Amino acid sequence: MSTKLWGGRFTGATDPLMEQFQDSIGFDKRLWRADIQASQAYARALAHIRILTETEAQQIVSGLDEVAAEWAAETFVLKPGDEDIHTANERRLTELIGAVAGKLHTGRSRNDQVATDTRLWLRHEITLLRGYLAQLIGITLERAADEIDLLMPGYTHLQPAQPVRWSHWLLSHASMWQRDMQRLDDLQARVNLLPLGSGALAGHAFAIDRAALAADLGFAGVTPNSLDGVSDRDFIAEFLFWASLTMAHLSRLGEDLVIYSSREFGFVTIADAYSTGSSLMPQKKNPDALELLRGKVGRVTGDLIGLLMTLKGLPSTYNKDLQEDKEPLFDAVDTLSGSLQIACGVISTLTPNALRLRAALASEMLATDLADYLVRKGVPFRETHHVAGAAVALAEQRGVELAALTVADLQGLHPAFDEDVIQVWDFEQSVERRDAEGGTSRRAVLAQIAQLRTWLAER
Ligand code: ARG
Repeated sequence: MSTKLWGGRFTGATDPLMEQFQDSIGFDKRLWRADIQASQAYARALAHIRILTETEAQQIVSGLDEVAAEWAAETFVLKPGDEDIHTANERRLTELIGAVAGKLHTGRSRNDQVATDTRLWLRHEITLLRGYLAQLIGITLERAADEIDLLMPGYTHLQPAQPVRWSHWLLSHASMWQRDMQRLDDLQARVNLLPLGSGALAGHAFAIDRAALAADLGFAGVTPNSLDGVSDRDFIAEFLFWASLTMAHLSRLGEDLVIYSSREFGFVTIADAYSTGSSLMPQKKNPDALELLRGKVGRVTGDLIGLLMTLKGLPSTYNKDLQEDKEPLFDAVDTLSGSLQIACGVISTLTPNALRLRAALASEMLATDLADYLVRKGVPFRETHHVAGAAVALAEQRGVELAALTVADLQGLHPAFDEDVIQVWDFEQSVERRDAEGGTSRRAVLAQIAQLRTWLAER
């Protein structure tokens, strides 16, 4: 008799290369815990419909506990024919408890089994990733609260634009992560549905109570259509999109900090724990952690695109192509897990350089405030924009800072300028004027911190 669980109709041997080609045990053994958990619940469900006696179900459940203990102790021995985690666990269960193990797969297929295992596994991983994300937001919030006094240049097009609070910049990243967390919660609802009881494709022939099975496994409900249920991998695609966008956000943090920690900027110092040296140049301290946060978005987006290409044009229900869903999923989970934790470490250990931040502020960054000054005197903004532009040009022509222009110089450009114009040349005042909700004034930033804190605490 063939060693394969599905060997009944086959007479010829499988090409050894083909074995290797189709085996997924090398990577899907990660699902062992989910596979055992789902099988134990399935045995209980089979007992409810009297396919198994209570004793048989109990034998299977405790046999599976033993299999789980072997996986946990790393003593599980793989044998030829263990092509995936499902066949391996069932083979081992049979060795441990004998023929009764053969009743476990009644009405079940690896098609609804693998879909169930993957959902169970991902559901758990999502709770871990969510925890890291919450931690990252929390750390950033506290930094923002502590360092609210620091001002820095805000940039557009990477050109100095207007002064902002350092905390406002920190919170801009926390805002992206807040959306990432909301998106993760949204998609978790679609991960948390049970496909088990769909059979191979057409449904369950023994009237299994899928709702009870779902409740047993902590799923919020069941997938509504068995044909779709065995082949739906949308939950993975969604997760990979979430992972890609979250990595895109982390890549922007990485890039901001690569720039800010460069010698030329010197806005922040990255802790030694997240930097490395050069093998050749003794003076170098490289921001490797930041570069990896920036770079890893590539592989995760590759995971997403790879899966979408696998799903495209698949005929209805299960096809072996779907086995290709796992490696990108595992890769994305591992990458996000590492990246989020490293980002936590980087943010919590960096040191902002108050002097360099302040020194980078130049009065040109107050040109908008100069225009706004005239607006407050009743001049239309389009005109004031033009006047402030002329003032910048004049200062440039004389090779002086914008703030070095005298009241008389400014009056030469527009009669509405008055002695009080010198009040414009104050970075703190400029920041404080941006007081509308979401802005960079102390009050507006504290409000963002308070809102985000409450939001986080509610979760
Ligand atoms: N290893 C397979 C997968 O990951 C399990 C399902 C196999 N089903 C089948 N009918 N061959 O998709």
